[in-house]
Amino acid sequence: PKRMAVLTSGGDSSGMNPAIRAFARMAMIKGAQVFAIREGYNGLVNDSIVPLHWGSVGGIISRGGTIIGTARCADFRKRDGRKRAVYNLIKNKIDNLLVIGGDGSLTGANLLRSEWCGLIKDLVDDGTLDKECIEKYPTLSIAGLVGSIDNDMCGTDLTIGADTATQRILEAIDSILSTAVSHQRSFVLEVMGRNCGWLALVSGLATGADYIFVPECPPEDGWEQNMIEGLERGRVSGRRCSLVIVSEGAIDKKGNPITSSYVRQTLENAGHDARITILGHVQRGGTPTFLDRYIATRMGVDAVEYFYSTDEKDKEPALIGMDGMKVTRSPLMDCVKTTQSISTLIQEKKFNQVVDLRGS
Ligand code: F6P
Repeated sequence: PKRMAVLTSGGDSSGMNPAIRAFARMAMIKGAQVFAIREGYNGLVNDSIVPLHWGSVGGIISRGGTIIGTARCADFRKRDGRKRAVYNLIKNKIDNLLVIGGDGSLTGANLLRSEWCGLIKDLVDDGTLDKECIEKYPTLSIAGLVGSIDNDMCGTDLTIGADTATQRILEAIDSILSTAVSHQRSFVLEVMGRNCGWLALVSGLATGADYIFVPECPPEDGWEQNMIEGLERGRVSGRRCSLVIVSEGAIDKKGNPITSSYVRQTLENAGHDARITILGHVQRGGTPTFLDRYIATRMGVDAVEYFYSTDEKDKEPALIGMDGMKVTRSPLMDCVKTTQSISTLIQEKKFNQVVDLRGS
């Protein structure tokens, strides 16, 4: 039987558990032996690899986070760490690996695959592995699912966890607005997203925010006045509160951060009774929404199909994502490269080109 393993890496996100469950159970239905690698790439480097059974993934579909643990692993960044990872995979006879994480974690998986033969040869040369391993394990099959609340990756309309994080933000904003209305206050709400403004944008849209700051679209110089006037128009038309959403990576045209405390100060200077709420990690937790359970399950099942596929083009690492409600496979590294180009364009303040690339 095929032997396949799953690991979660980088920041956790709600929906990773349903993905692990779907992958493990579909693989078992197909007759494969399934393993969990614990604590991200640390488990690969330190041989923390455990078999999964039908029952080990029972009752996790509704749980946030990841039951197999996650981490950012420094050792895996070094060739020696990856050599130990290859040794441990071969020791456990595993040559199909599902990685659930962000672009950094998926790049690591691709690197492991590209060095696979070279590292096996090194292990044979230093007497750690038998020579027959070279022929027995010609390649490592890699599939990647994007687990991230940020929805910051090309190759999928939605990353696992983004919908749940949005739901957490909406619940928080709905609570805040009831007190804001009572006191006629203005609230500045800071949301996560690293250098992607998706969470800020969609939660602003779904709550009727007055003003939203995102990294991809820095406001024109003099935005302070423009924001105050916008909020004022709302008040004149009868609104008893104001809501400004700041993405944690928001910047101005010069690339300087727009912080929530600066926005609050600007509002206070204009006479607003303003407060800040920084949502933080509450956005990453809690029970996954329907949509996250749905996409995670579809993607986890497709990862198994991918490993069983004999299609020639499926030999390359695949990113399994969603195009609307359809599951798609794209070349993993193309998705990583486009995603990273967007980050670079933002750092270089080439904002118009960002919008073009995000569209793709
Ligand atoms: O990438 C997910 C994310 O939650 C970002 O939105 C945020 O900037 C970062 O991770 C926080 O990382 P940590 O949990 O290590 O503080």
